[in-house]
Amino acid sequence: AAPGPLAGRRVLVTSGPTHEPIDPVRYLANRSSGRQGHAIAAAAAAAGAEVTLVSGPVAIPDPAGVRVVRVETAREMLDAVRAALPADLAVFAAAVGDWRPAAEQASKIKKDGSAPPSLALVENPDILATVSAMAEGRPRLVVGFAAETDRVLDHARAKLARKGCDLLVANDVSPAGGVMGGASNTVHLLGRDGSLETWPTLGKDEVGRRLVERFGTRLGTP
Ligand code: C5P
Repeated sequence: AAPGPLAGRRVLVTSGPTHEPIDPVRYLANRSSGRQGHAIAAAAAAAGAEVTLVSGPVAIPDPAGVRVVRVETAREMLDAVRAALPADLAVFAAAVGDWRPAAEQASKIKKDGSAPPSLALVENPDILATVSAMAEGRPRLVVGFAAETDRVLDHARAKLARKGCDLLVANDVSPAGGVMGGASNTVHLLGRDGSLETWPTLGKDEVGRRLVERFGTRLGTP
């Protein structure tokens, strides 16, 4: 493996949205370009790690030097994450759909002039919480993301505790900031140990590099 702060480490990253099918031509999705997750995967590979990137449908290129597993739904993402373990570090940057249609219709729902159909939803598995709670084979460092539009730090603290991860990267995605799909990001890094860092607005690539530096420090030298 390449030298660097993550040399010899196995790293798993999720990125992008999930698509939850309604019928063969329609789906429910979250807004996510995959840019931040992909940047983290690229930075981890550049830091010497062996990286598996589990990605939902995105329109950006695969990062160099990374094994990419493509999925569509949250359930497929969870299966791919389980298959990619064990890992030393797992970073959950994907915008996973919280719900999916209770049933996927086998044929296209027709607009037949009657009332619009209603959509019954069921909850998707929470991949981050599932991995954080693993009794056996839990990655040593589990990192979650929180995209918030208001009271960013309050919500992030609560999410860190609820999800059971070690670190949480919180970003302000209120529409005025242009983070969604954009090239830059303003993040706070919160630790379960109570630590808090707030970084200036940086390019997503630079955020990826800085995060990987912090992950390396937390994991220590192999
Ligand atoms: O609860 P919320 O979706 O805001 O939490 C965001 C964090 O949880 C992100 O790290 C995201 O990747 C992860 N997550 C997940 N599976 C879900 C929902 C969120 O891994 N079903």
